[in-house]
Amino acid sequence: MTTVGSRAEFAQLQERLLGGLRGTVLEIGAGRGRTLAAYPREVRWLGLEPDPRRRAELTRIAARHGRHEPVLAGVAERIPLPDASVDAVVGRTVLCSVADQAAVLAEVRRVLRPGGSYVFFEHVAAPAGSLLRRVQELLAPLSRRVSHGCDPARETWRSLEDAGFSHLDLRWYAAVRWDLDARYIGGTARR
Ligand SMILES: C[S@@+](CC[C@H](N)C(=O)[O-])C[C@H]1O[C@@H](n2cnc3c(N)ncnc32)[C@H](O)[C@@H]1O
Repeated sequence: MTTVGSRAEFAQLQERLLGGLRGTVLEIGAGRGRTLAAYPREVRWLGLEPDPRRRAELTRIAARHGRHEPVLAGVAERIPLPDASVDAVVGRTVLCSVADQAAVLAEVRRVLRPGGSYVFFEHVAAPAGSLLRRVQELLAPLSRRVSHGCDPARETWRSLEDAGFSHLDLRWYAAVRWDLDARYIGGTARR
């Protein structure tokens, strides 16, 4: 790990990377559409969301942002799109929740056109041995059940490093409060 940015810098990274996207963009696990305002107007936005209630809500929210294509149903382990069909894939706080990170990243690579980018923003496991890491590991079984599958103790950077992207720009961010050192990663991985 080299530089660790602040939480404010993590938010700035999200604005900058989402604002720079072009073409057809698929957002996996899009939830309640928190990113929608950050995309350029000319982007064709496709959402994928497995939870039917969230999907219905997301469809309404997306329409308010002028995005009228139906939100895709399904999980990111099996993306219902053809090979090389999108210019970018976005995942924000979603690799913490999926059942199989390696399968999701293989699907992300499959649907990206050559040279296309996966843009990710994730909370990840706190440093090994830290108090927060022990809390995350204790809470993980409960969190997985009650919080859309979210496992707060995942070392998601390892999955990104192992996923076979041609280029990975992965940055670290932290929010330190009292003795609790929460960690985030963000960046781009190119097919
Ligand atoms: C923590 S929420 C984040 C929502 C949104 N991306 C955001 O940043 O506000 C995780 C989302 O991932 C979705 N999700 C869970 N498992 C998934 C999977 N296997 N494939 C795609 N999305 C999934 C959940 O339904 C939920 O909407």
